[in-house]
Amino acid sequence: METAMNFQEQVKQGIPSELPQAKPYPADANRAPKRKDILSVEEKQLALRNALRYFPKEWHQELAEEFAHELKDFGRIYMYRFKPSYHMKARSITDYPAKCQQAAAIMLMVENNLDPEVAQHPEELITYGGNGAVFQNWAQYLLAMKYLSEMESDQTLHLYSGHPMGLFPSSTDAPRVVVTNGMMIPNYSQPDDWEKFNALGVTQYGQMTAGSFMYIGPQGIVHGTTITVMNAFRKVLSKGENPQGKIFLTAGLGGMSGAQPKAGNIANCVTVCAEVNANAATKRHQQGWVDELIDNMDDLVARVKTAQAAEEVVSIAFIGNIVDVWESFYEEDIFIHLGSDQTSLHNPWSGGYYPVDISYEESNRLIREEPEVFKEKVQATLKRHADAVNKHTARGTYFFDYGNAFLLEASRAGGDVMAENGIDFKYPSYVQDILGPMCFDYGFGPFRWVCASGKPEDLDKTDAIAASVLRKIMQESPEEIQQQMQDNITWIEDAKQNKLVVGSQARILYADAQGRMEIAKAFNDAINNGEIGPVVLGRDHHDVSGTDSPFRETSNIYDGSRFTADMAIHNVIGDSFRGATWVSIHNGGGVGWGEVVNGGFGMLLDGSAAAERRLKSMLLFDVNNGIARRSWARNEEANFAIKREMARTPKLKVTLANLVEDDILNNLSL
Ligand SMILES: NC(=O)c1ccc[n+]([C@@H]2O[C@H](COP(=O)([O-])OP(=O)(O)OC[C@H]3O[C@@H](n4cnc5c(N)ncnc54)[C@H](O)[C@@H]3O)[C@@H](O)[C@H]2O)c1
Repeated sequence: METAMNFQEQVKQGIPSELPQAKPYPADANRAPKRKDILSVEEKQLALRNALRYFPKEWHQELAEEFAHELKDFGRIYMYRFKPSYHMKARSITDYPAKCQQAAAIMLMVENNLDPEVAQHPEELITYGGNGAVFQNWAQYLLAMKYLSEMESDQTLHLYSGHPMGLFPSSTDAPRVVVTNGMMIPNYSQPDDWEKFNALGVTQYGQMTAGSFMYIGPQGIVHGTTITVMNAFRKVLSKGENPQGKIFLTAGLGGMSGAQPKAGNIANCVTVCAEVNANAATKRHQQGWVDELIDNMDDLVARVKTAQAAEEVVSIAFIGNIVDVWESFYEEDIFIHLGSDQTSLHNPWSGGYYPVDISYEESNRLIREEPEVFKEKVQATLKRHADAVNKHTARGTYFFDYGNAFLLEASRAGGDVMAENGIDFKYPSYVQDILGPMCFDYGFGPFRWVCASGKPEDLDKTDAIAASVLRKIMQESPEEIQQQMQDNITWIEDAKQNKLVVGSQARILYADAQGRMEIAKAFNDAINNGEIGPVVLGRDHHDVSGTDSPFRETSNIYDGSRFTADMAIHNVIGDSFRGATWVSIHNGGGVGWGEVVNGGFGMLLDGSAAAERRLKSMLLFDVNNGIARRSWARNEEANFAIKREMARTPKLKVTLANLVEDDILNNLSL
C-alpha cells in the first residue's frame, strides 16, 4: 500500500502500481488562478488523451472523468490524486534514493521548489509568479523522480517542459538533466498560445528559476533590490553623503515588490511604500518586512517629515493608492530622492494596478462586472501618476522604471513619459541605468548556492569562506569594481542576521567571474577537506549572460541586437559541455511569454578534482559569454571587463569592437 511505503520507496516506485485513492483538495491551499477555457471540444479530448498516456488502460475510465473535471474547474489537468503523500521539502542529499550524487542533488532542488513554505501554489506545481511551473502535472513529477533515482553517472534525463522524455546514455561529463521549458516555433509564442498548448499538456511556463529548480525563496529578490536601491542612491547623492533620512518612494507589497522596504532598510534610507491591498500590507508588516503601517495621509506626511528631520532609517507601508502619495508629497513640499514603482503593470486590466479615488472593493467589482470602465479608470490614473512623477523629477527626484512596464503602460495611456525623440522613455529602467552598467557589464550577477547537507552550520561556513575570498580578491581589484566588491562583502557578512533563509540552506551573492570561480573553488576544497558537505551552485537567470529580454535584462544593449536571443542559447549550450550538472532554457519569465528567452544551470560540487575542473571551465564561460556580447554592443564597462579577463585567461580571445566617430556618421547623407 502506498502509505506504508517510506519516502525512498515511494520515489523509486514512480507512478504507483495501484491506482491511489482520489484526494480532496486541501481547503487551506493557496490555489492557482483558474486558467482560461480556451480549448475546443476536440482539443479537450486531445488534452485528456495526452494526460491518460501516463497511465495503464484499466484506470482510463475513472481518470478520464476526474481529469475532465479538473480541466473544467481549473483550466488544466494537474492530476492532484497523484501528488505524493510525503512532505515536500529539501531533505539532506543523503536521504534521496540515488545511484549518483548529482541525481540526488537535483531531486533535492526539485523538492525545494515544491515545498509549501517556498512555492506559491504547491498543489499545482507552481513555484512563483502565478504560472512558474516545475512540472505540468504530478505524473511528470513522479516519473522524473523515479528516473533520477535510477540514473547512473553516464546517463542524461531530457525534460520537455516538465515531461520526462527519458534517460539517454551520455557520459560522466555531460549534464545529468537537460531542461527546456516553453520552447516554441517563434510564430506560436503569443500569450494565448501558452494558454492553449499548456492546457493540451505539451508545454509549460517555467518562469526563470521555477522550471530550473533554482528558486530559493525571497532572498534572491531582497539582494537584487538592495543592490538596486543602494546604487540608485549613489547616483543621486554626493560622495560621502549617506541615505539616512532620504526618501525612496515606491508602490507594491506583493510577491517581489514586498522586498522593497527590507531592501530600503538594508540600504539605510526612509522607504515609503504604498499598497492598496490592506491584507498584503498587513501581512508584510506581520512578517517583519516593513517597520510601520499607516493608513491616512496626514499621519503619513507627519511621520515622513519627522523621519527626514531625524535622519532615520525606517520603512513605512501606506495603505492606499500610490498616486495620492506622489500628489500629497508634492503639495507638502516633501523632497523624494528616489522614486520607482512595483505595481503589477505587466497585468494592468485584471488587478495588477488599481485606479485612484475608488475603493479597492469597488475596483474589484469593476474588474468583474465592468472591465471597460475599469480600463478607463486605470488609464486616467496612469496619466495622473505620470504627471505627479514629472512634477517631482522637475524638482530633482531620480525616477526609474522597475521592470514592471510602468512607463510602457503610462505611455499607452497617453501619459507624459516619452522622451523628445518620441521613441525612448523620459526615464531609464533599473537595468539601463543601474544593474546593467554597474553590475552585469562587469560580470556581477546573482550567483547562489545551496548546502546539500541541509545543515545551517554548513551555510555559516560557506558565508565565512565567501567573505574571506572576496576580501582577498578586493585587495587587488581595480578601482572600477571596488564598490561592488565592498557591497557584497557587507551583504555576506550581514546575511545571517537578515534571516533570509526559507526552505533549503541557500545563499545569494552578486559576484563577477573571478569571484564566482574562486568562491566555488574554495567551497570544493572545503568539501574535499570534510569541513562541509556537498554544495549546489547556480544562479538566477536574471543575470549577465543567461537572459535575452529587450525591455529588461538586455535593455542596456544599444546595437540593435537586444531583440535577438543568441546569447541565452549560446549560454545554455556552452554551459552544458563545460560541466553543468543540469542546464535549462526557457521561453517567458518575468516579462511574459514570447518576450524573453532565459536559461540557467545547476552544478554539484562534491570536493572532487573533476568538480574543480568543471567549475573553472563552466563559470568562466557562463559569465564571460555575456560580457563578450555586452562589449561587442560597445558597452564601455563590459569592454573594460573582457579585456581584463583576456589578460587573466590566456586561451580567451574575444572579438572587440572598433568605435566610429560620430562626426563621420553625421556628415554622411543617408
Ligand atoms: N523586484 C524585482 O526585482 C522585479 C524585477 C523586475 C520586475 N519586477 C516587476 O514588479 C512588479 C511587481 O511584482 P510582484 O511580484 O510584487 O507583483 P504583485 O502583484 O504580487 O504585487 C503588486 C502589488 O501592487 C499593489 N498595487 C497595485 N496598484 C497599486 C496602486 N495604484 N497603488 C498602490 N499599490 C498598488 C497590488 O495590490 C499588489 O499587492 C511585476 O510587474 C514584476 O514583473 C520586479
